[in-house]
Amino acid sequence: MTDNIIDINGLNLWYGDNQALVDVSMPVMKNKITALIGPSGCGKSTLLRCINRMNDIIEGCRVEGEIMFHDRNIYSPETDVMGLRKKIGMIFQKPNPFPMSIYENVTYGPKVHGVNSREALDSIVEECIRSSALWDEVQDRLGASAMSLSGGQQQRLCIARALSVSPEVILMDEPTSALDPIATSKIEDLAQELKRDYTVVIVTHNMQQASRISDYTGFMYMGKLIECGKTEEIFENPQEELTERYITGRFG
Ligand SMILES: Nc1ncnc2c1ncn2[C@@H]1O[C@H](COP(=O)(O)OP(=O)(O)OP(=O)(O)O)[C@@H](O)[C@H]1O
Ligand SMILES: [Mg+2]
Repeated sequence: MTDNIIDINGLNLWYGDNQALVDVSMPVMKNKITALIGPSGCGKSTLLRCINRMNDIIEGCRVEGEIMFHDRNIYSPETDVMGLRKKIGMIFQKPNPFPMSIYENVTYGPKVHGVNSREALDSIVEECIRSSALWDEVQDRLGASAMSLSGGQQQRLCIARALSVSPEVILMDEPTSALDPIATSKIEDLAQELKRDYTVVIVTHNMQQASRISDYTGFMYMGKLIECGKTEEIFENPQEELTERYITGRFG
């Protein structure tokens, strides 16, 4: 038995009058990779952003329901949202390193959270860049601009930056869609490594990717979670006809 690290219960979300999530409930299992799949506009990114309250910054966005994380509803008014985002980090579709050195990208978060000694920062940098499978490529040029890296390297640096504040959960929104196949397979391998120490939720358009790397899959359609479960069951024996039609490529 694995534990749920997150439980989404009866989540509804509106952008103004437009309802983008309809009564979504699903668990997220600890130290597993959960993939969210479904056609464009079905609410995958919206759901992902709910998990660390990134939708808070969108005007007119209203959420009902709860997301339990360590037995607390992250939507409760007492939640320290900065602290939550430290525990639940996010990687975006387009690599977005800060326009600073490789080293400074990784030390930025720890410094904000009060880590100042050079020694501690050096060791965070090495550990996180090793964990994101980038160390061999950048160890000799940590002072170089992050912008001098390739897209795939930038994405791995963004993962190192996310790891630098010791998160428990990493949310990834189509992290490989801007990358070539080699860079993509590096990120996929990395996701497999990361689940030993972290929990990963990944949105992907690519069903091969979902079936290759995830342990659990949720299929969304028009704001609803149609079904979720073990990846092989969703792909080999879906319970819902809509899921079957989607994964066999008959729509979307
Ligand atoms: N910031 C926003 N303001 C208003 N509506 C939004 C906003 N972001 C998303 N929506 C709407 O919410 C719905 C779900 O969008 P979302 O981006 O979550 O879909 P998605 O499944 O991630 O799609 P894609 O695969 O194209 O990335 C869409 O109808 C979209 O137009
Ligand atoms: Mg999206």
